[in-house]
Amino acid sequence: MTKVLIFGGTRGTGLEAARELAARGEHVTAVVRESSDTAELDALGAATVTADIFSAESVSGVFAAGSYDAVVLSLSGKRGEEQRPDREGVRVIVEVAREFGVKRVVMVTAIGSGDSRDAVAPKVLEVLGEVLAIKTEAEDFLMGAGVDATIVRPGGLADAPASGTGVLSDDHMTMGVINRSDLGALVADCITDNATIGNVYHAVDPEIKWQAPLQRGEDVPR
Ligand SMILES: NC(=O)c1ccc[n+]([C@@H]2O[C@H](COP(=O)([O-])OP(=O)(O)OC[C@H]3O[C@@H](n4cnc5c(N)ncnc54)[C@H](OP(=O)(O)O)[C@@H]3O)[C@@H](O)[C@H]2O)c1
Repeated sequence: MTKVLIFGGTRGTGLEAARELAARGEHVTAVVRESSDTAELDALGAATVTADIFSAESVSGVFAAGSYDAVVLSLSGKRGEEQRPDREGVRVIVEVAREFGVKRVVMVTAIGSGDSRDAVAPKVLEVLGEVLAIKTEAEDFLMGAGVDATIVRPGGLADAPASGTGVLSDDHMTMGVINRSDLGALVADCITDNATIGNVYHAVDPEIKWQAPLQRGEDVPR
Protein backbone atom coordinates (compact mmCIF):
# COMPACT_ATOMS: atom_id res chain seq x y z
CA MET A 1 0.00 0.00 0.00
CA THR A 2 1.35 3.39 -1.01
CA LYS A 3 0.66 6.29 1.35
CA VAL A 4 -0.16 9.29 -0.82
CA LEU A 5 -0.48 12.91 0.30
CA ILE A 6 -2.55 14.99 -2.12
CA PHE A 7 -2.54 18.77 -2.39
CA GLY A 8 -5.55 20.01 -4.39
CA GLY A 9 -7.56 16.87 -3.63
CA THR A 10 -10.87 18.53 -2.78
CA ARG A 11 -12.03 19.01 -6.36
CA GLY A 12 -11.35 18.29 -9.99
CA THR A 13 -8.34 16.22 -10.99
CA GLY A 14 -6.94 15.92 -7.46
CA LEU A 15 -10.24 14.51 -6.20
CA GLU A 16 -10.36 12.09 -9.14
CA ALA A 17 -6.81 10.96 -8.36
CA ALA A 18 -7.84 10.48 -4.72
CA ARG A 19 -10.86 8.47 -5.83
CA GLU A 20 -8.76 6.26 -8.07
CA LEU A 21 -5.99 5.72 -5.51
CA ALA A 22 -8.53 4.86 -2.80
CA ALA A 23 -10.23 2.39 -5.17
CA ARG A 24 -6.85 0.72 -5.76
CA GLY A 25 -6.39 0.27 -2.01
CA GLU A 26 -3.79 2.98 -1.54
CA HIS A 27 -3.89 5.16 1.58
CA VAL A 28 -4.97 8.70 0.69
CA THR A 29 -4.57 11.84 2.79
CA ALA A 30 -5.58 15.21 1.36
CA VAL A 31 -4.20 18.50 2.63
CA VAL A 32 -7.06 21.00 2.65
CA ARG A 33 -7.63 24.54 3.84
CA GLU A 34 -10.11 25.81 6.44
CA SER A 35 -12.53 26.88 3.71
CA SER A 36 -12.37 23.62 1.70
CA ASP A 37 -15.41 21.45 1.18
CA THR A 38 -14.22 17.95 2.16
CA ALA A 39 -17.55 16.11 1.72
CA GLU A 40 -16.41 14.11 -1.30
CA LEU A 41 -13.08 13.19 0.27
CA ASP A 42 -14.89 12.13 3.45
CA ALA A 43 -17.22 9.94 1.36
CA LEU A 44 -14.17 8.21 -0.13
CA GLY A 45 -12.81 7.45 3.30
CA ALA A 46 -9.78 9.63 2.59
CA ALA A 47 -8.10 11.32 5.54
CA THR A 48 -7.92 15.10 5.52
CA VAL A 49 -5.56 17.45 7.30
CA THR A 50 -5.76 21.23 7.33
CA ALA A 51 -2.69 23.33 6.58
CA ASP A 52 -1.53 26.56 4.98
CA ILE A 53 0.46 25.58 1.90
CA PHE A 54 2.31 28.91 1.91
CA SER A 55 3.76 28.24 5.35
CA ALA A 56 6.71 25.84 5.63
CA GLU A 57 5.96 25.48 9.34
CA SER A 58 2.37 24.51 8.66
CA VAL A 59 3.26 22.05 5.89
CA SER A 60 6.06 20.59 8.06
CA GLY A 61 3.41 19.87 10.69
CA VAL A 62 1.59 17.68 8.17
CA PHE A 63 4.68 15.69 7.22
CA ALA A 64 5.76 15.37 10.85
CA ALA A 65 2.39 13.97 11.91
CA GLY A 66 2.20 11.23 9.28
CA SER A 67 4.28 8.95 7.11
CA TYR A 68 3.99 9.32 3.35
CA ASP A 69 5.54 7.66 0.31
CA ALA A 70 4.45 10.10 -2.38
CA VAL A 71 2.96 13.53 -3.01
CA VAL A 72 0.43 14.54 -5.66
CA LEU A 73 0.18 18.23 -6.56
CA SER A 74 -2.98 19.28 -8.40
CA LEU A 75 -3.24 22.89 -7.31
CA SER A 76 -4.68 25.71 -9.32
CA GLY A 77 -4.68 29.43 -8.67
CA LYS A 78 -6.76 32.47 -9.45
CA ARG A 79 -5.91 35.56 -11.45
CA GLY A 80 -4.55 38.33 -9.24
CA GLU A 81 -3.54 36.07 -6.34
CA GLU A 82 -0.34 37.49 -4.94
CA GLN A 83 0.98 34.09 -3.91
CA ARG A 84 0.04 31.31 -6.29
CA PRO A 85 -0.75 27.86 -4.87
CA ASP A 86 0.63 26.32 -8.08
CA ARG A 87 3.98 28.15 -7.80
CA GLU A 88 4.77 29.51 -4.31
CA GLY A 89 2.71 26.74 -2.72
CA VAL A 90 4.47 24.10 -4.80
CA ARG A 91 7.87 25.42 -3.74
CA VAL A 92 7.00 25.23 -0.05
CA ILE A 93 5.49 21.75 -0.30
CA VAL A 94 8.31 20.23 -2.36
CA GLU A 95 11.02 21.66 -0.13
CA VAL A 96 9.31 20.35 2.99
CA ALA A 97 8.64 16.95 1.38
CA ARG A 98 12.33 16.64 0.50
CA GLU A 99 13.36 17.60 4.04
CA PHE A 100 11.14 14.81 5.34
CA GLY A 101 12.61 12.33 2.86
CA VAL A 102 9.48 12.04 0.72
CA LYS A 103 11.01 12.10 -2.73
CA ARG A 104 8.24 10.90 -5.03
CA VAL A 105 6.21 13.80 -6.45
CA VAL A 106 3.68 13.79 -9.29
CA MET A 107 2.54 17.26 -10.37
CA VAL A 108 -0.25 18.28 -12.74
CA THR A 109 0.47 21.39 -14.83
CA ALA A 110 -0.87 22.16 -18.33
CA ILE A 111 0.01 21.70 -21.98
CA GLY A 112 1.54 25.00 -23.11
CA SER A 113 4.00 25.05 -20.19
CA GLY A 114 7.75 24.76 -20.58
CA ASP A 115 8.83 23.34 -23.92
CA SER A 116 5.24 22.82 -25.09
CA ARG A 117 4.32 26.39 -26.08
CA ASP A 118 4.11 25.37 -29.71
CA ALA A 119 1.51 22.70 -28.91
CA VAL A 120 -1.14 25.31 -28.14
CA ALA A 121 -2.93 27.87 -30.32
CA PRO A 122 -2.01 31.59 -30.19
CA LYS A 123 -5.33 32.28 -28.40
CA VAL A 124 -4.28 29.97 -25.56
CA LEU A 125 -1.03 31.88 -25.13
CA GLU A 126 -2.86 35.21 -25.33
CA VAL A 127 -5.38 34.32 -22.62
CA LEU A 128 -3.43 31.88 -20.46
CA GLY A 129 0.13 33.07 -21.03
CA GLU A 130 0.52 34.30 -17.46
CA VAL A 131 -0.81 31.05 -16.02
CA LEU A 132 1.42 29.00 -18.30
CA ALA A 133 4.43 31.06 -17.19
CA ILE A 134 3.56 30.22 -13.56
CA LYS A 135 3.23 26.52 -14.43
CA THR A 136 6.57 26.68 -16.25
CA GLU A 137 8.28 28.10 -13.17
CA ALA A 138 6.72 25.37 -11.05
CA GLU A 139 7.86 22.69 -13.50
CA ASP A 140 11.41 24.06 -13.59
CA PHE A 141 11.51 24.23 -9.82
CA LEU A 142 10.23 20.67 -9.39
CA MET A 143 12.63 19.20 -11.94
CA GLY A 144 15.56 20.94 -10.23
CA ALA A 145 14.48 20.08 -6.69
CA GLY A 146 16.33 16.78 -6.37
CA VAL A 147 13.17 14.72 -5.97
CA ASP A 148 11.76 11.83 -8.03
CA ALA A 149 9.38 13.92 -10.09
CA THR A 150 6.85 13.23 -12.79
CA ILE A 151 4.98 16.05 -14.52
CA VAL A 152 1.62 15.42 -16.15
CA ARG A 153 0.40 18.17 -18.48
CA PRO A 154 -3.25 17.87 -19.47
CA GLY A 155 -4.75 19.76 -22.38
CA GLY A 156 -8.32 20.97 -22.04
CA LEU A 157 -10.19 19.37 -19.12
CA ALA A 158 -13.71 17.92 -19.30
CA ASP A 159 -15.98 16.44 -16.65
CA ALA A 160 -17.55 13.48 -18.43
CA PRO A 161 -17.37 10.02 -16.83
CA ALA A 162 -14.13 8.14 -17.41
CA SER A 163 -13.71 6.84 -20.96
CA GLY A 164 -10.68 4.72 -20.12
CA THR A 165 -9.00 5.96 -23.30
CA GLY A 166 -6.86 8.75 -21.85
CA VAL A 167 -3.14 8.38 -22.53
CA LEU A 168 0.19 9.80 -21.43
CA SER A 169 2.34 10.88 -24.36
CA ASP A 170 5.95 11.95 -24.31
CA ASP A 171 5.40 13.93 -27.50
CA HIS A 172 5.40 17.51 -26.25
CA MET A 173 3.51 18.72 -29.36
CA THR A 174 0.47 16.63 -28.40
CA MET A 175 -2.63 18.69 -27.60
CA GLY A 176 -6.21 17.63 -26.90
CA VAL A 177 -8.85 17.20 -24.23
CA ILE A 178 -9.12 14.71 -21.37
CA ASN A 179 -11.71 14.01 -18.69
CA ARG A 180 -10.58 14.80 -15.16
CA SER A 181 -11.63 11.25 -14.21
CA ASP A 182 -9.24 9.73 -16.75
CA LEU A 183 -6.51 12.20 -15.83
CA GLY A 184 -6.88 11.23 -12.17
CA ALA A 185 -6.35 7.58 -13.12
CA LEU A 186 -3.22 8.44 -15.12
CA VAL A 187 -1.85 10.41 -12.17
CA ALA A 188 -2.53 7.38 -9.96
CA ASP A 189 -0.68 5.17 -12.47
CA CYS A 190 2.38 7.44 -12.29
CA ILE A 191 2.51 7.22 -8.50
CA THR A 192 3.20 3.49 -8.60
CA ASP A 193 5.23 3.39 -11.83
CA ASN A 194 8.84 4.35 -11.17
CA ALA A 195 9.54 4.28 -14.92
CA THR A 196 7.70 7.62 -15.09
CA ILE A 197 10.25 9.34 -12.80
CA GLY A 198 12.01 12.24 -14.50
CA ASN A 199 9.47 12.41 -17.32
CA VAL A 200 7.06 15.07 -18.52
CA TYR A 201 3.92 13.71 -20.15
CA HIS A 202 1.06 15.23 -22.09
CA ALA A 203 -2.28 13.75 -21.03
CA VAL A 204 -5.00 13.65 -23.67
CA ASP A 205 -7.81 11.39 -24.77
CA PRO A 206 -7.35 10.64 -28.49
CA GLU A 207 -10.99 9.52 -28.67
CA ILE A 208 -12.20 13.03 -27.79
CA LYS A 209 -12.29 14.75 -31.14
CA TRP A 210 -13.28 18.28 -30.08
CA GLN A 211 -10.78 20.89 -28.95
CA ALA A 212 -11.09 23.31 -26.03
CA PRO A 213 -12.56 26.71 -27.04
CA LEU A 214 -9.27 28.62 -26.73
CA GLN A 215 -7.48 26.01 -28.80
CA ARG A 216 -10.18 26.53 -31.44
CA GLY A 217 -9.32 30.23 -31.34
CA GLU A 218 -12.51 31.30 -29.56
CA ASP A 219 -12.66 33.89 -26.81
CA VAL A 220 -13.79 32.81 -23.33
CA PRO A 221 -14.99 34.99 -20.43
CA ARG A 222 -11.98 36.03 -18.34
N1 LIG B 1 -9.21 24.04 -15.99
C1 LIG B 1 -8.59 23.57 -17.06
O1 LIG B 1 -9.18 23.43 -18.17
C2 LIG B 1 -7.15 23.15 -16.97
C3 LIG B 1 -6.48 22.81 -18.14
C4 LIG B 1 -5.17 22.36 -18.05
C5 LIG B 1 -4.56 22.25 -16.81
N2 LIG B 1 -5.22 22.62 -15.68
C6 LIG B 1 -4.51 22.44 -14.40
O2 LIG B 1 -4.82 21.14 -13.95
C7 LIG B 1 -4.80 21.09 -12.51
C8 LIG B 1 -6.12 20.56 -12.00
O3 LIG B 1 -7.15 21.45 -12.39
P1 LIG B 1 -8.67 21.14 -11.97
O4 LIG B 1 -9.51 22.16 -12.71
O5 LIG B 1 -8.96 19.70 -12.14
O6 LIG B 1 -8.65 21.45 -10.40
P2 LIG B 1 -9.49 22.53 -9.57
O7 LIG B 1 -10.92 22.10 -9.60
O8 LIG B 1 -9.15 23.90 -10.04
O9 LIG B 1 -8.94 22.28 -8.09
C9 LIG B 1 -7.92 23.10 -7.57
C10 LIG B 1 -7.51 22.58 -6.21
O10 LIG B 1 -6.54 23.49 -5.71
C11 LIG B 1 -6.90 23.79 -4.35
N3 LIG B 1 -6.42 25.12 -3.98
C12 LIG B 1 -6.58 26.27 -4.66
N4 LIG B 1 -6.03 27.29 -3.97
C13 LIG B 1 -5.53 26.75 -2.82
C14 LIG B 1 -4.83 27.28 -1.71
N5 LIG B 1 -4.54 28.59 -1.61
N6 LIG B 1 -4.48 26.43 -0.73
C15 LIG B 1 -4.76 25.11 -0.81
N7 LIG B 1 -5.42 24.54 -1.84
C16 LIG B 1 -5.79 25.36 -2.83
C17 LIG B 1 -8.41 23.73 -4.34
O11 LIG B 1 -8.85 23.59 -3.00
P3 LIG B 1 -10.21 24.29 -2.46
O12 LIG B 1 -11.32 23.31 -2.72
O13 LIG B 1 -9.94 24.53 -1.02
O14 LIG B 1 -10.40 25.57 -3.25
C18 LIG B 1 -8.65 22.50 -5.20
O15 LIG B 1 -8.52 21.32 -4.46
C19 LIG B 1 -4.47 22.51 -12.06
O16 LIG B 1 -3.08 22.61 -11.90
C20 LIG B 1 -4.92 23.34 -13.26
O17 LIG B 1 -4.27 24.59 -13.29
C21 LIG B 1 -6.51 23.06 -15.74
